[in-house]
Amino acid sequence: MTSTQDAAIPVAATGTHLPAPGSEWWRTAVIYQIYPRSFADANGDGLGDLPGITAHLGALADLGVDAVWLSPFMVSPQNDAGYDVADYCDVDPIFGTLADFDEMLATAHGLGIRVIVDLVPNHSSDQHRWFQEALASAPGSPERARYIFRDGRGEHGDLPPNNWESVFGGPMWDRITEPDGTPGQWYLHIFDSSQPDFDWTNEEVREEFRRILRFWLDRGVDGFRVDVAHGLMKKDGLPDYTPPADGDSMGGEDDDVPYWGQPEVHEIYRDWHEVLAAYDGDRALCAEAWLPTPDKTALWVRPDEMNQAFNFPYAMTDWNAPALRLVISESLRAFSAVGAPSTWVLSNHDVIRHASRLALTGESPQGEGIGPLSVAQPIPELGLRRARAASTVMLALPGSAYVYQGEELGLPEVIDIPDAARQDPTWFRTDHEKYGRDGCRVPIPWTAGSPASGFNDTGAAWLPQPAGWDDYARDVEARDPDSTLSLYRRLLAERRAHGLGSAPFTWIPGHRDDVLAFEVGDVTVIANVGTEPVELPAGSILVSSEPFEGRALPADTAVWLIPA
Ligand code: NOJ
Repeated sequence: MTSTQDAAIPVAATGTHLPAPGSEWWRTAVIYQIYPRSFADANGDGLGDLPGITAHLGALADLGVDAVWLSPFMVSPQNDAGYDVADYCDVDPIFGTLADFDEMLATAHGLGIRVIVDLVPNHSSDQHRWFQEALASAPGSPERARYIFRDGRGEHGDLPPNNWESVFGGPMWDRITEPDGTPGQWYLHIFDSSQPDFDWTNEEVREEFRRILRFWLDRGVDGFRVDVAHGLMKKDGLPDYTPPADGDSMGGEDDDVPYWGQPEVHEIYRDWHEVLAAYDGDRALCAEAWLPTPDKTALWVRPDEMNQAFNFPYAMTDWNAPALRLVISESLRAFSAVGAPSTWVLSNHDVIRHASRLALTGESPQGEGIGPLSVAQPIPELGLRRARAASTVMLALPGSAYVYQGEELGLPEVIDIPDAARQDPTWFRTDHEKYGRDGCRVPIPWTAGSPASGFNDTGAAWLPQPAGWDDYARDVEARDPDSTLSLYRRLLAERRAHGLGSAPFTWIPGHRDDVLAFEVGDVTVIANVGTEPVELPAGSILVSSEPFEGRALPADTAVWLIPA
């Protein structure tokens, strides 16, 4: 077979990857996402909490992560699992108290682990004091001006102000009843109707978020993961927009989606950059911005804006060597061009876990999720094998990598959650047509043979754990040298020992098209993304995603080796 690999690599990405300026920790860090609801539950109520996190941070230090990012634990009615915040500067009692937070932070710092918290600036909960004040005030009042209220269309204003569709399904607008009991204005919500969008053209909103940033910075956090960082500014006049029928909610490469990635949004992050710069210790901002290309995503990490942006184009790439080569090359080129590290991510609380996603029998658009009646179903053994190989590739790449809780155990997506137990607003807003994201959010297993597999000691769990969860328990995997946990520990240790986060990267030409081959620092990475074995070059194998004998690398396997 002739090699077409070289042709697939954009010229700018071959050769040495330019070292990024500076040595700030976030340029190379492995950051572990804690989803507090499902990590560890100290009080046994079935929902994870801050004391549970504190008690288990030792396991993360042992894994070898540099930092943790905590999904929201602030006061919230939990309509969108905490991404609907009612008070940005306090802890929801279901997770604990501010004192619990301080203890967690001090424990993490004592273990050398930095802590990033989630900030949700696009929208609040409808239970936020400001939204309640807006409802009680008149149209045109300063209270309404903190959100996006508009009169409806049609003779009686009973049609929504435009045709935008919520990301969770249904219209992006809901109509309120005015304080005098008459049908009233409409308010915009990109997500659930209980998540009204702020109006970021309003200086009062901007000042409030500077205050919120400082509140957490003063407590000692190392940075923020910024929710929906591409959504805060809407196009002037809120024009109608119909997404392409086959497109996803990100929009295509050339689409101007009037609520995503509007140019004015960058002013906000330049302002926040200044807020963080007044603090010591390289505090970081990471953008959650679902954009279709690395070039578009890189706009969020220009030198005077944020520090990192999730690389979703990479996360959404199938297990396909040419596609992976292209997105890796494009990412290194696009992010280096603005002096930022690329990030790498395969799983989080919004996507199908990659141990299932990488071997599905059909398409499953992002956010729809999979359940018992989905056409696309995972092939479990193949999925896990590919996930281990994909993680072996990811953790060698220069830049910063994100690991979602449970992926280090090889957890699959949970498919058979009973309908009555489902919680994701997507499930309700689409009349049960789309399963949504519950399958990647099930409480994780710690100890086999214990209640709730060691998530707590009562056996309660806010989403039911499936049969067989004990097989993935951390204590079981810790004893098995071939487990996914043992693989991740080796990968993180060798990544650190060989300085891969900041090492020069070069593709190695001359391999089959379905093989990924690159050098990063003194390590050679070979991944067999095809079906036929690949003869390995001479050298000693440092880490392998699967045990195998001899020098023929089996299908769906990746190795790190030190060339002879
Ligand atoms: C992105 C978060 O990751 C997701 O879980 C949430 O539903 C939306 N933003 C809305 O906040």
